Amino acid sequence: MRILMVCLGNICRSPLAEGIMQHLIKKNGLHWQVDSAGTGGYHIGSRPDSRSIRVAKNHGIDISTQAARKFKTEDFERFDLIVVMDKSNYKNVTALAQTTEQKQKVRLLIDDEEVPDPYYDDGLFEPVFNLIDTNCAKLLKNLQNGKA
Ligand code: 4NP
Repeated sequence: MRILMVCLGNICRSPLAEGIMQHLIKKNGLHWQVDSAGTGGYHIGSRPDSRSIRVAKNHGIDISTQAARKFKTEDFERFDLIVVMDKSNYKNVTALAQTTEQKQKVRLLIDDEEVPDPYYDDGLFEPVFNLIDTNCAKLLKNLQNGKA
């Protein structure tokens, strides 16, 4: 299984999703691949936001070596599942899909719900971490059970 986590900047939410999912994959003895990308290109090459690095570290996960990149159309073929954090990400990614199959690879991390953008609110990083953590665990379980 190859999973791509996507948000807008690839510096706050999707680096957390990548790090958390990587941690869960390892914990479960799986050999799945996980990566992350942003729909916007403002932060290409940057490390994750220091607040994301800190909250992940507080939970025993190191995301400090990740570097931001932009989502590209080849990602539809390089990944089995493209997991987006909010509805705007969903709209931006599916707009690039060239086939129904590509579009069907895209889904929200939480059905009909969004992971809020914490960029302008320091207090959101901890709840966002917990929201992503809970829902990555659910996604992994569902994928293992063939339900996702
Ligand atoms: P992310 O958060 O999409 O979770 O990485 C953001 C980071 C940067 C910006 C917006 C959202 N920005 O506008 O620069």
